[in-house]
Amino acid sequence: MPSVSRLLHLLPPETAHRFTLLALKCGLGPSAAGKDDPVLHTRVWGLDFPNPVGIAAGFDKNAEAVLPLLKAGFGFVEAGTVTPQAQPGNPQPRLFRLPEQKAVINRLGFNNEGLEAYVARLKALANDPFRQKSVVGANLGRNKDQTDAAADYVTGVRAVSKLADYVVINISSPNTPGLRGLQNKPELSALLAEVQKARRTLASPKLPPLLVKIASDLDEAALNNIAEVTLANKVDGLIIGNTTLSRPSGLPPALAQEAGGLSGPPLFSLSNQALRQMYKIIEGKLLLIGVGGIASAEDAYEKIRLGASLVQLYTGLIYGEPELLADIKRGLATLLRRDGFKSVADAVGTAR
Ligand SMILES: Cc1cc2nc3c(=O)[nH]c(=O)nc-3n(C[C@H](O)[C@H](O)[C@H](O)COP(=O)(O)O)c2cc1C
Repeated sequence: MPSVSRLLHLLPPETAHRFTLLALKCGLGPSAAGKDDPVLHTRVWGLDFPNPVGIAAGFDKNAEAVLPLLKAGFGFVEAGTVTPQAQPGNPQPRLFRLPEQKAVINRLGFNNEGLEAYVARLKALANDPFRQKSVVGANLGRNKDQTDAAADYVTGVRAVSKLADYVVINISSPNTPGLRGLQNKPELSALLAEVQKARRTLASPKLPPLLVKIASDLDEAALNNIAEVTLANKVDGLIIGNTTLSRPSGLPPALAQEAGGLSGPPLFSLSNQALRQMYKIIEGKLLLIGVGGIASAEDAYEKIRLGASLVQLYTGLIYGEPELLADIKRGLATLLRRDGFKSVADAVGTAR
């Protein structure tokens, strides 16, 4: 019988994705929650994760499949990117498979149903006992036609802070003109000051940790600036990183020239380099989530050893079989034990 991933690859990429989300919503996903090896349990920002492997932003942009994804065994789910207003994103086609590299290029451009629908879905889950003991992050963006970027992030922060366990300021998507410019020192400083000001006005007893998601293709000077500004503005963590605009050699030329962000294995070493550098720069003062090109337990383990307290993946799932997540978790537990680590936290940053 042909494999699930082969069948899905007979469909255009966006159709395959919609079909996958629909199948999850209909309860056709794997049921693997509560079965994690105890060595995988980890505590980050005071939150308990049954395992450190999360689903990266972009898979569930509208928070439609949060519960099924948690039940499928992800250690946490990051829903979004959501923008205040619904928007259609870029014209299709805008998602391209590179099967030989097991990679994709996307220029979706924050297509999403907007904050209202997103918040309604998170609210509907709020009292679910399973949701309550799980970790759900909200990834926030800016509408394409919004000139005051801070205003959109502030709107997002106000809307989700009582509903999400952590909040991500995504300033690294390459498909919204000007967005990545928010990673520059003065822009980031101004943005984070506004966001923190808004958070201080929220009458919430406990604010969720604030994270910033950055690009994978930043040089050391840019990483230093980001570390300085995020620490000064009391950010709790960084996600490294988003898709890359670079095109490593060996990609099929016709596809490599498509505009958009590249993800999957060709992004692995680039995102690892940024992760390794950032881990050295921040000296434990911020916690890091490593994402980019994970397709195996070894890949996830490498990111942890380079300094990631948690990891995420997306593109690996497009090419992997439904068992991929279970395989990664099982393999990770084996690798941790093989090297004498008693927990994920023990292994963080131990690569030389
Ligand atoms: C189709 C697609 C859509 C994405 N959409 C988002 C998004 O909305 N927000 C975001 O922060 N990252 C988004 N990403 C980036 C992923 O979250 C992740 O950072 C990147 O793909 C690298 O991980 P991977 O190699 O495991 O896919 C998207 C990636 C893909 C492939």
